[in-house]
Amino acid sequence: MLSDIQIFWYNHNMNQPITSKVNEKGHLEIGGCDLADLAAEFGTPLYVLDEVTIRSRCREYKTAFKGRYDNTLIIYACKALCNTAVLKLLSDEGIGFDVSSGGELYIARKANCDLKNIYFHGNNKSKKELEEAVDLGVGRVVVDNFDELKALDAITQKAKKKADILFRINPGIEAHTHEFIQTGQIDSKFGIAKEKAIDAVKLAAKMKYVKFVGLHSHIGSQIFDIKPYIALVELLCDLAGSVLAETGIKCEDINIGGGIGIDYTGQDNVISLDAVASEIVEVFKNKSQKLGAPKLILEPGRSIIGTAGVTLYSIGSIKDIPEIRKYIAVDGGMSDNPRPILYGAVYDALLANKANAPKTEKVTVAGRFCESGDRLIKDIELPKAEIGDILCVFCTGAYNYSMASNYNRVGRPAMVLVNNGISSLILKREAYEDLIANDVVL
Ligand code: LLP
Repeated sequence: MLSDIQIFWYNHNMNQPITSKVNEKGHLEIGGCDLADLAAEFGTPLYVLDEVTIRSRCREYKTAFKGRYDNTLIIYACKALCNTAVLKLLSDEGIGFDVSSGGELYIARKANCDLKNIYFHGNNKSKKELEEAVDLGVGRVVVDNFDELKALDAITQKAKKKADILFRINPGIEAHTHEFIQTGQIDSKFGIAKEKAIDAVKLAAKMKYVKFVGLHSHIGSQIFDIKPYIALVELLCDLAGSVLAETGIKCEDINIGGGIGIDYTGQDNVISLDAVASEIVEVFKNKSQKLGAPKLILEPGRSIIGTAGVTLYSIGSIKDIPEIRKYIAVDGGMSDNPRPILYGAVYDALLANKANAPKTEKVTVAGRFCESGDRLIKDIELPKAEIGDILCVFCTGAYNYSMASNYNRVGRPAMVLVNNGISSLILKREAYEDLIANDVVL
């Protein structure tokens, strides 16, 4: 049985929030809010997040696994977008959290997230961060390497507090995605080589307060292929079997990371979460039979929040270089969305105030920052753009605000959450004063 929210999801344009529609003025609307009105009220650039899409993705993930393998936990990778209101909303949906810094942990606490469902990641956590994790008693510390294991041992002994740990395993599995966001290949800074996993478990078993409870791997991000996940499930279950045989210790958790890709362009071949769950669970159930029904954990970031977000920009200048290229310049760019310049990421957009107008020209969307490479979208078909038009770029919910900078001392944009015709400011626009808040004047 599909809920209304899910039916909505299956019927809509896959790279847009599920509530997006064109209203009687010919304007794009999300969450019942006219985007041109939002731009006028809150200014641009503006991040807009659709609550229904976020909730629907959480439910879609949970429904896909429920019934197939009930002992599944979905945890949200906070690095994709970490804001108090967003984490509160996800917590309300019964989602756990992957944090990878003391900062993300702090925000998760401010959002009242359940500490026992927090997994603390990172390949070089500081002593202070490990101390915080132990002191607060977060659900799991995901230990990346032997140095960290020893540091954690010392910290737990001093505090006389226990820490339940997973080991991050480097599985030697290559996923097909941009090289910067591949993480499971042998030549990676992340994780303990699978051949050394048993040694790590044996070492942890000698520690008084550190308790090994499971295995973790994350093979990369923006992945469209299910095969590397199947290979990973097999590998981690086999490894858990070897751990049990050699040490007698059961893995309570098998965490297969995040990385499921989303449709940025309207033409990317995404896998449905239902198919993901069905294929993964089939192999997992089969391979984990002798492991005592461990908890299966997935930690998606992008595929929960990515499509829910759009960014609105105002077009401020237009430059036509005859026979070569027409640039339309917007009031944001690489500081609010560094993905095009970092990974050559491709985005889709339309003019929010001319959403039904025919696309008559090919343009390149330039940012406002002092680099020629600051182009948000190369060669996109749009209706004839004029100064003051509002450009809406899709799929900016993940890894945009979370990787934003103050380059050229431009303040980061505001963010609003929209639902049912109501827009709520969940992040203020940075003002000039914010830019010097940490300056020490001599
Ligand atoms: N778990 C771990 C341990 C991770 O490192 C990540 C992402 C995730 C889960 C979530 O992956 P997701 O489901 O969001 O793909 N800045 C890049 C993405 C870097 C991802 C880093 N780790 C981008 O903009 O594409």
